[in-house]
Amino acid sequence: MSLILGIETSCDETAASVVEEGVIVRSNIIATQHKLHERYGGVVPELASRAHLERISPVISEALEKASVSFADLDAIAVGNRPGLIGSLLVGVSAAKALAWTLNKPLIGIDHVKAHLYAGFMQIPSADPKSQISNLTSQISNFKSPISNLKSDINPFPALGLVISGGHTSLYSLTSPLEMRIIGRTIDDAVGEAYDKAAVILAIGYPGGPRLDKLAQTGDASKHRLPRTLLGAESLDFSYSGLKTALLYAVRGYPVGKGSSATFEKSAADLSEEDRRDLAAAFQEAAVETLMKKLDRAVEQLAAQGERPRSLLIGGGVSANSLVRKRALEFGEEKGLNVRLPAMSLCLDNAAMIAGLAHEHFTRGDRSDFKLEAISTSR
Ligand code: KG4
Ligand code: ZN
Repeated sequence: MSLILGIETSCDETAASVVEEGVIVRSNIIATQHKLHERYGGVVPELASRAHLERISPVISEALEKASVSFADLDAIAVGNRPGLIGSLLVGVSAAKALAWTLNKPLIGIDHVKAHLYAGFMQIPSADPKSQISNLTSQISNFKSPISNLKSDINPFPALGLVISGGHTSLYSLTSPLEMRIIGRTIDDAVGEAYDKAAVILAIGYPGGPRLDKLAQTGDASKHRLPRTLLGAESLDFSYSGLKTALLYAVRGYPVGKGSSATFEKSAADLSEEDRRDLAAAFQEAAVETLMKKLDRAVEQLAAQGERPRSLLIGGGVSANSLVRKRALEFGEEKGLNVRLPAMSLCLDNAAMIAGLAHEHFTRGDRSDFKLEAISTSR
């Protein structure tokens, strides 16, 4: 049995988690900094790294305590070392190095974006202690890890992966949890970033994605037609800036003048509650339909190359979106794909996915050395 401590500080969540056998989440502690950044309408890097420094030790202690394990029980220390804000990443990387050094345990650096795709394989035991024990036993015997499944009938690979977050909108073709190639990416805004900006345009506050999702569920998407940017008939890349601008004009009217001197005839304050809901729904429909269209293209193109995916892995903050989850399951049914969506608490940034993916590296014998760096980009 392996027990891995995961640490995650790439952006504005300070997180630590203990994961058993790469799949069983024994604890998942997330200290969010939303309140700290709310009044600035986005993450302020200097404030984020200072907050990580204050929180990292108590968050790690709590993760161990909730998992009922001590430092000595751990088999490895894993940390998200890329991509992210350098000042934030450095806090987690330094903490992980210090622990690995003093405890004499292996250190494993993890790519945060790849970890998002692994989250759908992980299980959160039920809070009820009795069912927890029986669940754990059956989960471990049925499903040790995606890699062990490679030999069984339920091998989920090759898989199509979609990471949708505040920083990424990327499509991958995966042959294992560790081997993947990128086949599409955004050429401008990430979809989560577009949600956050759309929430500012609609004046519904921060964090924008979840608020817009909730509002959209009460609106009528057919009242407004917003664009779906597909970038030609073949492209697997994404573009969300046109959708964002179309929403801006739908809310405020066309601008008079250019650049910073442009003025708008209306403001978000002029929207009725009904308009706001309908615009949120129209935005959500356009954003999600675009994602689904690209997934469809990717499946067809991979199939034509003889690499038809068996499953669809989705991860990142936007995988918590209600319409994404609904449409992804429908799409999977239609295409015969096994869809793996993360549990809600594993969609947003968390350290469980870091420890989970680290298990795959751990069993393969991969180790990082103490030169492990914080790197702003994904590999
Ligand atoms: O993965 P994540 O926590 O951080 C990054 O790695 O970026 O993703 C955060 C993003 C934010 O843009 C947030 O607005 C978006 O995920 N998000 C959502 C929802 N929940 C979070 N977007 C749409 N609908 C949601 N329910
Ligand atoms: Zn993330």
